[in-house]
Amino acid sequence: MNPKQSIVCLSSSPPLHFLCFFLVIFLTFTTIPASSCRGGNETDCDALLMIKVTSVVLDSLGLDGSLSPHVGNLSFLHELSLGNNSFQGAIPHELGRLSRLRILYLYQNKFKGVIPTNISRCSNLQALGLSYNELVGTIPKEISFLSKLKFLVLHYNKLTGGIPPFLGNITSIEVFAVKENPLHGSIPDTLGHWKSLKEIYGSHCNFSGTIPHSLYNLSHLNTMNFGDNQLSGTLPEVIMLPSLVILQL
Ligand SMILES: *[C@@H]1O[C@H](CO)[C@@H](O)[C@H](O)[C@H]1NC(C)=O
Ligand SMILES: *[C@@H]1O[C@H](CO)[C@@H](O)[C@H](O)[C@H]1NC(C)=O
Ligand SMILES: *[C@@H]1O[C@H](CO)[C@@H](O)[C@H](O)[C@H]1NC(C)=O
Ligand SMILES: *[C@@H]1O[C@H](CO)[C@@H](O)[C@H](O)[C@H]1NC(C)=O
Ligand SMILES: *[C@@H]1O[C@H](CO)[C@@H](O)[C@H](O)[C@H]1NC(C)=O
Ligand SMILES: *[C@@H]1O[C@H](CO)[C@@H](O)[C@H](O)[C@H]1NC(C)=O
Ligand SMILES: *[C@@H]1O[C@H](CO)[C@@H](O)[C@H](O)[C@H]1NC(C)=O
Repeated sequence: MNPKQSIVCLSSSPPLHFLCFFLVIFLTFTTIPASSCRGGNETDCDALLMIKVTSVVLDSLGLDGSLSPHVGNLSFLHELSLGNNSFQGAIPHELGRLSRLRILYLYQNKFKGVIPTNISRCSNLQALGLSYNELVGTIPKEISFLSKLKFLVLHYNKLTGGIPPFLGNITSIEVFAVKENPLHGSIPDTLGHWKSLKEIYGSHCNFSGTIPHSLYNLSHLNTMNFGDNQLSGTLPEVIMLPSLVILQL
């Protein structure tokens, strides 16, 4: 297999070779148009462009390679979902070149290393799911540039540092999950800007200080869980959480 053409599969069990084959074909087709267009055959070029698929959904298939940096060439992708496999190695920062990407699910794998700052360049991203991996380092504050993000799900990793106050700028957030990470510091009151917030999970971290009163005034919030932390302080006199179903502190 030409390494320039393998997107995801560096090794995989025999029944899955067809998937690797599919992906090789897939990338081959996406790379041909550039040269064939330059060569001047518009018919071939158009035909190849039409084959472009905008979703790659390969969840729960036992895939166990690493994610090649060449994935950054699939610039037309809207969705890349590789959850519940055994991918390992780093999350390539080339993913930041996928400016059309709306959904990126890499949850439940064995990804190591940091969350690449360049993910903040996927300006159309609405869902980022990286839970159940072995990611270290901090939550990049640049994620706050993702102004369309609704789901930011990072639970069960080894992320350190605090919740960057800048995240409060993403007013589209609906679900935020960071539970079971060795995070610390205070919960920023800027999270109260998340007027669309429905669910927030921050249990089993090591947050200290108080839960900002701004979080008790969110009309759509139905679940707030900050159990098993070092939190202290008082509840506000006025709690305006009309949608609340679960509150665990
Ligand atoms: C382009 O490709 C098509 C189909 O392969 C072929 O019929 C046509 O003759 C080619 N045109 C040129 C200018 O090479
Ligand atoms: C994960 O994938 C395996 C197959 O590799 C499947 O048996 C299992 O049900 C999946 N788990 C979830 C939670 O989807
Ligand atoms: C694909 O991506 C790699 C690494 O990002 C780059 O070196 C290569 O030139 C790209 N190929 C094409 C055809 O765009
Ligand atoms: C990552 O982002 C930096 C700028 O923020 C850029 O210089 C670099 O080329 C990017 N890497 C890729 C692979 O897009
Ligand atoms: C983002 O949030 C930070 C701190 O919460 C603030 O200082 C900054 O001005 C905000 N940036 C934008 C572009 O709104
Ligand atoms: C939690 O934070 C406190 C200080 O804020 C520190 O002393 C303690 O070791 C931390 N615990 C864990 C499990 O990281
Ligand atoms: C609750 O938020 C609304 C705006 O969403 C604001 O007008 C109101 O003053 C806030 N109430 C409290 C008690 O903070």
